[in-house]
Amino acid sequence: MKSKASSPGKVILFGEHFVVYGVKAILCAINKRITVTAEKVDGNKISIKSNIGNLELEPNKLISEIDSPLKPFYYLADKMIKNQNTGIDIKVESDIPLGVGLGSSSACCVAGAAAISKLFRDTTKKEILEMAIEAERTIFENTSGADCTVCTYGGIMAYDKKNGFTKIESEPNFHLVIANSNIEHSTKSIVAGVKQFKEKNEDEFSRLCDNEAKLIEDVLKILKTNSVGELGKKITENQKYLETIGVSNDKLRDMIQIGQKTSFGAKITGAGGGGCIFALTDTSNLNQTINELQSKNYDCFSVKIDFKGLDTF
Ligand code: PMV
Repeated sequence: MKSKASSPGKVILFGEHFVVYGVKAILCAINKRITVTAEKVDGNKISIKSNIGNLELEPNKLISEIDSPLKPFYYLADKMIKNQNTGIDIKVESDIPLGVGLGSSSACCVAGAAAISKLFRDTTKKEILEMAIEAERTIFENTSGADCTVCTYGGIMAYDKKNGFTKIESEPNFHLVIANSNIEHSTKSIVAGVKQFKEKNEDEFSRLCDNEAKLIEDVLKILKTNSVGELGKKITENQKYLETIGVSNDKLRDMIQIGQKTSFGAKITGAGGGGCIFALTDTSNLNQTINELQSKNYDCFSVKIDFKGLDTF
């Protein structure tokens, strides 16, 4: 018996870092996906094959002793085959670049939870999301769950620590040009750097949080009107706050400057320090923005919002 599921990746449109201090962030799912195929097999091995390597282990191992980025899959499979006389083969196929803030690990957890659980029973999206967040905690203990949520349900979402998630019902038609610095970033150490900035500049940081909160409220209104130009201005403004807290670098700045020339606005997405930037475009400036970035040898591609979320088949 085989089952298959796919999940989109995500970008943070607004509010990264400030979200850690209680401000709202806005995320959206993107039309780049991870597909997981799970199959019951004879024997009692859990075997995972992916383009970043393989992992094969017997069940009942301690998760803390497994040193592999594939361990969320092992965690999910091991949990499901308790008291069942079967092994599981898992195959992971991805078109989301890894480790650059585009939600590859959350998409793995969501598609993995759906494909593996479907071998044993029917599950709701809500249950799959809970399993996916548990699995993601095996690699990022303090995950807010925001990424897994947007990957499961698709579309655009607002998230804050106090109130959790709210789906934003608008369906904007913009294109995002994502440029990848190909510098892997450690979210944890960049978040620690921002904490240091905050401790040294309490007043300034508090002002920035207020400005970001105001900006997000404006963005929520703009999303209802679908004004891509207005949204672009907010993106550029948000980038200034990210520059101030020190999460940018020369390569990101260069990509943003190039992106801003032809698009409506460009900023870092995610933790910064490496990872990706995005530029907001529509059909009038999409190709030009891609050409500008490619002419400077930057690795870039365009995405749209994914409104489907988790898909099982
Ligand atoms: O680059 P990512 O996708 O890991 O984004 C991190 C987002 C932060 O706001 C910097 C941290 C967080 O936990 O929200």
